[in-house]
Amino acid sequence: MSNLQSEIQNRRTFAIISHPDAGKTTLTEKFLLYGGAIALAGSVKGKKTARHAVSDWMEIEKQRGISVTSSVMQFNYEGYCINILDTPGHQDFSEDTYRTLMAADSAVMVIDASKGVENQTRKLFKVCLLRDIPIFTFINKMDREARNPFDLMEQIESELGIRTYPVNWPIGCGRDFKGVYDRRKKEIIAFTPSGGQREVDKTEVELSDPGLESLLGQELCQTLRDDVELLDGASYEFDMDQVRHGKLSPVFFGSALTNFGVEPFLEDFLKMTTPPLPRKSSEGEVDPFEDSFSAFVFKIQANMNKAHRDRIAFMRICSGRFEKGMEVYHVQGGKKIKLSQPQQLMAQDREIIEEAYAGDVIGVFDPGIFSIGDTLCAPGKKFEFEGIPTFAPEHFNRVRQKDTLKRKQFVKGVTQIAQEGAIQIFHEPATGMEEVIVGVVGTLQFEVLEYRLKNEYNVEIIREGLPYQYIRWIENEGLEPKTLSLTSDTKVVQDFRDRYLLLFTNNWSINWALEHNEGLELSEFSRN
Ligand code: G4P
Repeated sequence: MSNLQSEIQNRRTFAIISHPDAGKTTLTEKFLLYGGAIALAGSVKGKKTARHAVSDWMEIEKQRGISVTSSVMQFNYEGYCINILDTPGHQDFSEDTYRTLMAADSAVMVIDASKGVENQTRKLFKVCLLRDIPIFTFINKMDREARNPFDLMEQIESELGIRTYPVNWPIGCGRDFKGVYDRRKKEIIAFTPSGGQREVDKTEVELSDPGLESLLGQELCQTLRDDVELLDGASYEFDMDQVRHGKLSPVFFGSALTNFGVEPFLEDFLKMTTPPLPRKSSEGEVDPFEDSFSAFVFKIQANMNKAHRDRIAFMRICSGRFEKGMEVYHVQGGKKIKLSQPQQLMAQDREIIEEAYAGDVIGVFDPGIFSIGDTLCAPGKKFEFEGIPTFAPEHFNRVRQKDTLKRKQFVKGVTQIAQEGAIQIFHEPATGMEEVIVGVVGTLQFEVLEYRLKNEYNVEIIREGLPYQYIRWIENEGLEPKTLSLTSDTKVVQDFRDRYLLLFTNNWSINWALEHNEGLELSEFSRN
């Protein structure tokens, strides 16, 4: 196998999703600990302490204890090169989660064992299903009082609509959490607490071992034997093909904080996941093992670091090898470009990289030329990767600057944040950008907008809620919206390309517009 092939073969790229507080950051930290990327547990985070997660870099995240932006972390473990893509935990940012999932080959869903499937997880999970990628479940916090594991399985299946296969099974919970039973090896992994650091003492014993009772106690031992019998009779068969298509989720139990079950999870997960997968393009599937480089932009973020004041485009490499200073063809821009300052990001710490391979994510300096979904490939090629859809905004605010002298900064700020894909901006016909109508998928994005305009662009804004919930672009070329017959609560606006669209407060008004304007064609998505 060539060097290129073996590098790509060892790549694993996955996104990690969860409801806020389920333990995503703690689990990520433990992965990094195993990979030797950090030396001590607790160095990644401690939201209530002065330290904060390396993956939480925005002030607002620290204040609210939520992850708004997603970051990328890379580490090596047992010959694998692993890329973890962190996602915002809040459902208001599910569009961002979706884009991150586009860059991943699989997803890990972290669930709090005492809470089960939570509201946010539901929405994020639906986004996951849209991508048809393998989903692994880690049921966390088994060191606390947990819900019955059978109930948890049942809930995941009925609420999320995915089948489950418990790869391991918990032995007790809370103070009695002793470890997990590995169903495939038919072996018990019992843990001894050690303050959550890397080395957790574990003992491996077979289920039939006569010494088991003294290890687990009679009650837990009996429960485990009964559970295993029930599971073997009742749970779904393990079917790798179904796992690969996101129809069956392998489930693992553990406790990220105490480091119980994290290593067995990581090991099985790495074995069950694949190297980078082929990606669909306008010229058929692109094989990741191909020599020639290709990538697509899945995220753009301005001012990640106030000191740098720059804009970074994150791209997922889909094939071949990337080298620093390499010349590539930017398909949508129709130009050859040099990717300057390629970086790998460990949140705030940036490291200039010399090379990267299919499966990796790199951040490059963006002078304002990239859009989400853009393709980069080797000069001489011209294909485009499948686009990244935009979600239709469901909430609208009228936004203007408090101080009219700050117009320039205001326009720059809203335009840049809109280019990142965090918000969509519109304006009333025949008016400029003094005042914009901002559409978002989740209302928290308004707060982020307000915060970022103030902190990054020094502009204070006035926001006014608008009652619209639905957005439709007018598809008819040259149609003059004034001629349309619409309900009084329907609003005509224009997007940044001056295309006309309608904002509706309810479905009824959409139907009304269609019924009263023959030939009117409306679309939920903008065509780029
Ligand atoms: P998130 O990224 O999904 O939002 O969750 P995060 O890892 O930040 O964890 C949320 C809280 O849950 C943290 O406590 C964390 O220590 C705790 N936690 C994570 N995994 C486990 C676990 O396996 N068992 C137990 N008992 N707790 C766990 P916190 O009090 O909010 O923050 P901190 O002050 O401890 O950092």
